[in-house]
Amino acid sequence: MLKIGHLPVASPLVLAPMAGITDTCARRIAKRFGAGLVYSEMVSAAGLARRQPRTLEMLAFHPEEQPYGVQIFGSEPAEMAEAARIAEDEGASIVDINMGCPVKRVCRTGAGAALLCQPKRVEEILRAVRKAIGCPLTVKMRLGWDAKAVSVLDISRIAEEQGVDAIILHPRTRAQAYKGKADWSWIARLKEERRIPIIGNGDLVSPQGCREALQSGCCDAVMIGRASRGNPWIFSRTLDLLSGMETPAPSLESRYETVLLHKEWLCTQYGKEHGLRRLRFLLFQYGRGLPRATRFRQQLVSVKGEEALDGLLRVYFVEGPNRASFSSEP
Ligand SMILES: Cc1cc2nc3c(=O)[nH]c(=O)nc-3n(C[C@H](O)[C@H](O)[C@H](O)COP(=O)(O)O)c2cc1C
Repeated sequence: MLKIGHLPVASPLVLAPMAGITDTCARRIAKRFGAGLVYSEMVSAAGLARRQPRTLEMLAFHPEEQPYGVQIFGSEPAEMAEAARIAEDEGASIVDINMGCPVKRVCRTGAGAALLCQPKRVEEILRAVRKAIGCPLTVKMRLGWDAKAVSVLDISRIAEEQGVDAIILHPRTRAQAYKGKADWSWIARLKEERRIPIIGNGDLVSPQGCREALQSGCCDAVMIGRASRGNPWIFSRTLDLLSGMETPAPSLESRYETVLLHKEWLCTQYGKEHGLRRLRFLLFQYGRGLPRATRFRQQLVSVKGEEALDGLLRVYFVEGPNRASFSSEP
């Protein structure tokens, strides 16, 4: 079984941190479907250290999520250490340091992927954070700033020396953002160079792809991001594959059940209005790849009120997309 520091992780499948997406509800769903570890979206260390209420709210989690990691971003060692301490106090089982965010607003402050160009600063941050917390510490990184400044081996060595318990690598540079392909040969290279667990991330879109990555031995676990949106079955189907069973894509009934569960949790977490707004966005993902998904998406945009939305879901998922003929009129 995978262990990160002292923490046993029940399955080698990890939900990626995704801003605006991996809130407590999405993480709980991923966990139900077999993710062994889930991460929060990135949380501002400055906001946490100043105990800003809206930032503290981002730490909300449900006990079912555990073990659950909180990812923080920032560039000031003392602030990062204080934020990590708060995250641990509030219940995080792991703290992760973001060293991959390519967004200008974040990099301009020296945080996210900008840290990949500052080995000294990385060392200071990791030393301070390591001292501040007792729970496992991970780092999520990219290859480097751009093709001319690939720093993954240097930065990961510093991380290992400073007592980081696992490294998550998304093998693209900051300059690539999400373009091109994730270069998994770097994950294999990192696995050879480091003694701590390596979690491979990037472009895993199918249970077969996840199984291949795991069985190749190039990483200890895989982290899934975009392909898990509205598709938590990627976790359960990968686990099935790993135990030798090929399971088909989920039925409409099972999708419907999951959508209703997600809806219930969102409304409990955020209240009806905000919860339904978040659900609508997610439904685009839950409908992805299904017959008549385009029409479903168009109807989602125009549907008004909870009752009408429930009606649309029933027609689409229960009666079957081939018969979906819902009108958004009251
Ligand atoms: C909408 C979105 C938000 C993201 N937010 C974060 C984040 O907060 N922290 C982080 O480390 N990575 C973030 N990422 C990157 C993902 O965690 C992951 O590294 C990347 O999407 C590659 O994995 P994938 O191909 O499985 O999606 C985000 C990605 C997306 C698409």
